[in-house]
Amino acid sequence: MLTTATVDAAAPAANAPFHGLIGGRGELRVGRAKAPRLVHPVVLDPYEHPASVDAARAFFARGPVELEVGFGRGRFLKERVTQATDALFLAFEVRRMWIARAMRFADRAHVTDRLRVCLSDCRPLLDRLLAPGSVRAVYVFFPDPWWKKRHEKRRLVSESTLDAFHRILTPGGLFHFRTDVAEYYDRVAALVSADARFVAAPPEHDADGRALPLTDRMSKCQELGIRVQSLAIMKRADAPAAPRGDLP
Ligand SMILES: C[S@@+](CC[C@H](N)C(=O)[O-])C[C@H]1O[C@@H](n2cnc3c(N)ncnc32)[C@H](O)[C@@H]1O
Repeated sequence: MLTTATVDAAAPAANAPFHGLIGGRGELRVGRAKAPRLVHPVVLDPYEHPASVDAARAFFARGPVELEVGFGRGRFLKERVTQATDALFLAFEVRRMWIARAMRFADRAHVTDRLRVCLSDCRPLLDRLLAPGSVRAVYVFFPDPWWKKRHEKRRLVSESTLDAFHRILTPGGLFHFRTDVAEYYDRVAALVSADARFVAAPPEHDADGRALPLTDRMSKCQELGIRVQSLAIMKRADAPAAPRGDLP
C-alpha cells in the first residue's frame, strides 16, 4: 500500500449543481420527469424541496448513520434496519418502484423515525445530506456494471466516490462492497489497496462482528452458483488527508 499523500479531496461547493448519473437532475432518467412525486415521511426530495437538506442534516446528526447505495428490492436494507436498531439509515435508489417499496416497508416495520430514502443518484447529494465524519458504514452491493467502455465513467465506485465516502465516514467507519462481476471487483480492490486512508477490514461483518444480511442479488447468485466477491475497508483514525499515495 502506498502511503504518501498531500492533497485533501474537497467536497463540491454547496451551491454546485446537482449533476446525476446521466447528467442533469440526479433523480431523473429519460421519460421519468413527468412521474408523480413520491410523498412520504421517509422520502427525501431535495430537488423539489431544497430546504429539506438542512432538515435531513439535522436528522442524521442524531446518528449513528448507515448508508446504502442502490438498495434495489431492499432485502439488505430491511434486514439491516431491523438488525441495527441503534442506527439511522439513508438509502439511495434511482428506480422509483424500489423507493415506493421502501416506503411500504417503513410503514409496516414502524421505522419511519430511523429511515430516509432518496430517489437519486447518490453522488450529487452525499456531501449535502451528510456531515463530514458522520457515517459509520457505507454499503454498495452489486452496483450496475456498466459494461460498455464508453459507459465506464458511470460506474458508481470510482476515485471520486471513494473520496466522498472517505469524507462522510467516521474514523473507524466501514465501506462494504460486493459484486459478482470479477472485473469490477478487481478494479475496486486495486483502488482501495492503493489508498492509504483506509485499511482492510473483515468483509461481510459489521463493527460488532455480526454477519451482514444478504441482498436480493446475492441470494440469487447463491441459488445459481454465481461467484460473489466482497471486501470491506475501514477509514483509518489517523488517516492522511489525501486519497492516493503517488503525490510528492
Ligand atoms: C444490480 S442492482 C443491485 C440491487 C441490490 N443492491 C442487490 O444487491 O440486490 C443495482 C441497483 O442500484 C441502483 N443504482 C444504480 N446506480 C445507482 C446510483 N448511482 N445511485 C443509487 N442507486 C443506483 C439500480 O437502480 C439498481 O436497483
